[in-house]
Amino acid sequence: LSKKEVQVTFIKANGEKIQTKGKIGDSLLDVVVNNNIDLDGFGACEGTLTCSTCHLILSKSTYDSLPNKPSDEELDMLDLAYDLCDTSRLGCQIVLTEELAGLEVNVPATINDARS
Ligand code: FES
Repeated sequence: LSKKEVQVTFIKANGEKIQTKGKIGDSLLDVVVNNNIDLDGFGACEGTLTCSTCHLILSKSTYDSLPNKPSDEELDMLDLAYDLCDTSRLGCQIVLTEELAGLEVNVPATINDARS
């Protein structure tokens, strides 16, 4: 039996909306990878918290509704991302729950690979 899926929308900096689906328990990095979503350079470290290329910007209400708060490691890595906002998170650290159905996230214009 496959796990339940929720709808997720990625909004690129140019306004293009990419609607997709992700399984409950998957991270937004998993969603990008599993659906072959074309975001250049996204998720370069494969979720090991060493790149910041999975930087996403959320609305305030979405940010506040996420069940897990950012860890110190995530915050350190976010410091290296471009266009950092108060509501920035790393996509590899956002895990889908049923409550997040219909989630919309903004992809920043510039992706910075902190490893280079
Ligand atoms: Fe590298 Fe998230 S994929 S920090």
